[in-house]
Amino acid sequence: MPWNCEHIMGPKQVCRGAVFLTLCLAVTLASLDTESPKTDHELLVVTIATEENDGFRQFMKSAKKYGFDVKVFGMGLEWQGGTMESIGGGHKINILKEGLKPYKDRKDLILMFVDSYDVIITESKETLLEKFYKFNARVLFAAENTCWPDRSLADKYPGVKESEKRYLNSGGFIGFAQEVYEMVTYQPIKNDEDDQLFYTQIFLNRGLRHEWGMKLDTRAEIFQNLNHALGEIMIKYKGSHSFMYNVKTGTTPIVIHGNGPIKAEFFRLANYLADGWTATAGCQACKEDLLDLVSLKESDYPVVLIASFIEYPTPFIREFFEQLAGLNYPKSRIQIYIHNSVALHTAAVEKFVSEHEAEYMRVVVTAPERRVSERVARDWTVEECIRTNCNYLLMLDSIVQVTNPDLLTGLIKQNRSIIAPMLKRPGKLWSNFWGALNFDGFYARSEDYMDIAEYNKLGLWNVPHLSNALLIQGHRLPALKGAHSASLTVDPDMSFCQVARKKMVFMYVDNQVYWGHLVNAESFETNHLNNELFNIFQNPLDWKRRYIHKDYEKSLEEGAVIEQPCQDVYWFPIVSDTFCDEFVAEFENYGQWSGGTNHDPRLAGAYENVPTVDIHMNQVGLEQQWLKFLEVYVRPLQESVFTGYFHNPPQAIMNFIVRYKPEEQPYLRPHHDASTYTINIALNRPGIDFEGGGCRFVRYNCSITSPRKGWMFMHPGRLTHFHEGLRTTAGTRYIMISFVDP
Ligand SMILES: *[C@@H]1O[C@H](CO)[C@@H](O)[C@H](O)[C@H]1NC(C)=O
Ligand SMILES: *[C@@H]1O[C@H](CO)[C@@H](O)[C@H](O)[C@H]1NC(C)=O
Repeated sequence: MPWNCEHIMGPKQVCRGAVFLTLCLAVTLASLDTESPKTDHELLVVTIATEENDGFRQFMKSAKKYGFDVKVFGMGLEWQGGTMESIGGGHKINILKEGLKPYKDRKDLILMFVDSYDVIITESKETLLEKFYKFNARVLFAAENTCWPDRSLADKYPGVKESEKRYLNSGGFIGFAQEVYEMVTYQPIKNDEDDQLFYTQIFLNRGLRHEWGMKLDTRAEIFQNLNHALGEIMIKYKGSHSFMYNVKTGTTPIVIHGNGPIKAEFFRLANYLADGWTATAGCQACKEDLLDLVSLKESDYPVVLIASFIEYPTPFIREFFEQLAGLNYPKSRIQIYIHNSVALHTAAVEKFVSEHEAEYMRVVVTAPERRVSERVARDWTVEECIRTNCNYLLMLDSIVQVTNPDLLTGLIKQNRSIIAPMLKRPGKLWSNFWGALNFDGFYARSEDYMDIAEYNKLGLWNVPHLSNALLIQGHRLPALKGAHSASLTVDPDMSFCQVARKKMVFMYVDNQVYWGHLVNAESFETNHLNNELFNIFQNPLDWKRRYIHKDYEKSLEEGAVIEQPCQDVYWFPIVSDTFCDEFVAEFENYGQWSGGTNHDPRLAGAYENVPTVDIHMNQVGLEQQWLKFLEVYVRPLQESVFTGYFHNPPQAIMNFIVRYKPEEQPYLRPHHDASTYTINIALNRPGIDFEGGGCRFVRYNCSITSPRKGWMFMHPGRLTHFHEGLRTTAGTRYIMISFVDP
């Protein structure tokens, strides 16, 4: 760097204007004669923390990473400096007065004081010292954009450029040990008086300012205070290194301080800082401090209390329990607690318990009749985990579908106080985390929410709110006792997160892999025998997983060979066994089978030419769902075999289940269908559920006598495919028919 005025005099404002030019030059020349200043001081970071919370740990980790020696004062002391958000902090100065004594005469020592719960360091010790020397100050304070706590002092500050920060912030300063000590011990302060005011008054005293060579870091060369400054900073990357850039001052500050009420935003930025995440190297923080369980003997696995909460009617609860039982984790190290508030789900809970109770360490259920509130139940699980010395508490809501069975080992491995798998409603932005908070502490969308929710950025993200699935380390639980009831005016999960934030127990959401998803429990009809059958609109993915044949997609693959048992009759696997069973049961439960006569009051004109014993979809309220099924699953198959015919969405008025049995209607005489094409799904098994049956296409003299359960025929209607239903000779045969595009 060339010798110039700024170099000698420090911050630019000092030698602005022609008046100072001569003086400035004189100083420059004079300094050339003297030896260049000593620049090999020791640097010691001092901070005050009364407890080791995650904010503190994050700070210490960053300091260690960049080679700083840190001395911590006050650990274990009871904090008497008021809340950090309001006036106070005199206690800090009193702790420093004691702590700094041993250093007061050290000429070779530079001290940097910083807060620790909301500070992160982002560059090396050498870079920081180099920047400090350039100020040519004896004590340099962080600066900020607002004058606090005494606004009336604003006028007393020296002027700065429009882009610069004018006011002293006491969350960070760096200086020579002697001056720092003198300044800190300058006058008494009470623990509950304000530390920032203390330093401000010293700085605004021109005599003291000059005596101790005090300056402000008005351009955020070293210290960046984020309160009222979020609009002027951005994160930048250089390969695997991340840093903050201040667009207003053009500097890259090193000590980043989330001062004031913007903690959530600070912690969000801290996800990236200290090389935590960069665009090219991805999440580097995710690879640190890992707790790998793979080498452990089963009996040494940490004990997990899995607490599941069923607070409202939830679709696909059966799968919820199947996945719970299917987790890759020794059941002998799992305790299960189930809080069930919904009588509808008692059977599913009881089934799970009877099938697996013996395998788990312990299973406890609170039944709906007990009327234990969710809040109380959630707090109880925290207490219970503490009481039984469990290592982890996993709170899992009934809407969570864990499709990745490595959930527990995967989350435990990350070694975080609270961690959640990222879960979303499939295809939606609705998720189980908030990226930011608004001023009332409710949901706000963070700048990176979309990138995280859509897996554009993968990593571990410290966020202000999590719900639905949380893994909490056992040793963090004492801080979270009663957290669900701390604020009774908000939902238990909000109350819990408020406490976690306040206690600085970090909450991370993990989207490094796909863990599962959330079902949508809204407008879930519970008046049917098999409610999920009706749920194709709300939860299309879960509906597909339960009801669509596992080989369905194969027919749509490039070059797939589709079976053609008769001329222009195509045969596809389409629905699962479960679909067939639930579907038949649903219609049998409804029970109002038609008489199989020509008089049919359900039709316009009340006349059916080729009557069957059947029930129409609209009679059980499944018509709209069925049309969706035609559109999503049947239409693509049609387009793949009857090429060139497009009709989207498919129309169908006649959608019905037909029952054949010897003593009722055993067969159907040859007929044409009023359709462009017809589908016919076999719902049960020939040779097992019934004998005989099948379908014969008269024109081709071709019969299909071995229908396969869950498979569908598709054939043209009206003209070419005159057909008949063959006689069922024993048992009951069920088929599902649609006349598509009549
Ligand atoms: C887990 O994290 C804690 C800090 O919270 C750390 O002290 C510990 O060393 C980590 N464990 C491993 C195995 O890295
Ligand atoms: C129809 O096929 C059956 C056997 O599949 C055969 O016995 C019968 O003779 C055929 N009828 C005609 C008219 O071809």
